[in-house]
Amino acid sequence: TNPSLLILPGDGIGPEVMTEVRKIIDWFGAKRGITFDVSEDLVGGCAYDKHGTPLHDDTMAKAQEVDAVLLGAVGGPKYDNLDFSVKPERGLLRLRKEMDLFSNLRPAQCFDALADFSSLKKDVVAGLDIMIVRELTSGVYFGEPRGIFEEGNERVGINTQRYTESEIDRVARSAFDLAMKRGKKLCSMEKANVMESGILWREVVTEVGKDYPEVELSHMYADAGAMQLTRWPKQFDVIVTDNLFGDLLSDLAAMLTGSLGMLPSASLGAPMDNGRPKALYEPVHGSAPDIAGQGKANPCACILSFAMALRYSFDMGEEATRVEQAVNKVLGDGVRTADLLNEEGITPATTAEMGDAVIAALDAS
Ligand code: NAI
Ligand code: MG
Repeated sequence: TNPSLLILPGDGIGPEVMTEVRKIIDWFGAKRGITFDVSEDLVGGCAYDKHGTPLHDDTMAKAQEVDAVLLGAVGGPKYDNLDFSVKPERGLLRLRKEMDLFSNLRPAQCFDALADFSSLKKDVVAGLDIMIVRELTSGVYFGEPRGIFEEGNERVGINTQRYTESEIDRVARSAFDLAMKRGKKLCSMEKANVMESGILWREVVTEVGKDYPEVELSHMYADAGAMQLTRWPKQFDVIVTDNLFGDLLSDLAAMLTGSLGMLPSASLGAPMDNGRPKALYEPVHGSAPDIAGQGKANPCACILSFAMALRYSFDMGEEATRVEQAVNKVLGDGVRTADLLNEEGITPATTAEMGDAVIAALDAS
């Protein structure tokens, strides 16, 4: 049977960048004989407009059945004043929660042609290819007790950093699995010097590591990790960390390499019956209302998210590399959307021109 993919373009530039991904999916069918069973549905504001909810139950059920979900972006000013319970992002949060996507993969990869575009020195970022694995479903954003309480004659705001052994174990395993497919090097980051959850984190990761003798495991305090990531990021291959530190470190790492329009992500859950993890792929960027409907959006983040789906859900690593190389080639040829240009006088490529250039590069590969 063909691999199945549920596409949820969403709002704003979501449908615009997804159109370019559809071209690539069609290319795989026509030129490589690889056919995906693609279905498409609504999420976010557009789902609210049609159904009064940002994620219909039928869409949720479909997401649980397919091999992978590919999402564009949700939200926009039209929906900013909606009730919290039906806000567009609730659709995305429901997907993540009900699919139990505990492992968030955020690559920081520097395409050759964009090495000059980084705010860091070229030799620090040229050739950079690292992956941050962030725990996504537990930790301080979810721990109880939480809230704002009266205490004596003032208020106190409380959040609780809480991790169970099994929560650490499963995200550690997904990071080790990833390290096995990459450079066999894993750095775990926490603050075991000042946090009990950090002590437990280090213990459990070390224990899981015994099942992966080929992977070279190291530990680093997360604050030192932030320094090392900007000083010499190429010392890392895979980094695994908790929800809070991962939120900060993945945003930091992402910006080592340039534009929001280039950043893909994957969120993985437990293995399904076919042995593959539940998976949601999406660009890091949002619906970009400031440029929506103008053909200015960079489709690369969404295209690269599809490449991650090829690699992590469909075991098509070579095809994934082919797509990434095509993007690299296009950038090298100087085809750039506006977000990738800092010089005046160069006409930026449109969303469609960028997508077509990637197709042409795939044809030539
Ligand atoms: P944003 O990521 O949508 O935009 C930030 C800036 O980056 C804007 O100037 C935008 O034009 C630019 N940008 C983003 N993606 C781009 C692309 N592919 N090509 C070229 N330029 C790009 O974040 P912002 O403005 O904070 O949020 C806008 C809306 O998106 C809000 O409703 C927010 O809630 C939603 N959002 C949704 C996310 C999701 O669906 N996962 C994530 C972040 C925000
Ligand atoms: Mg963040």
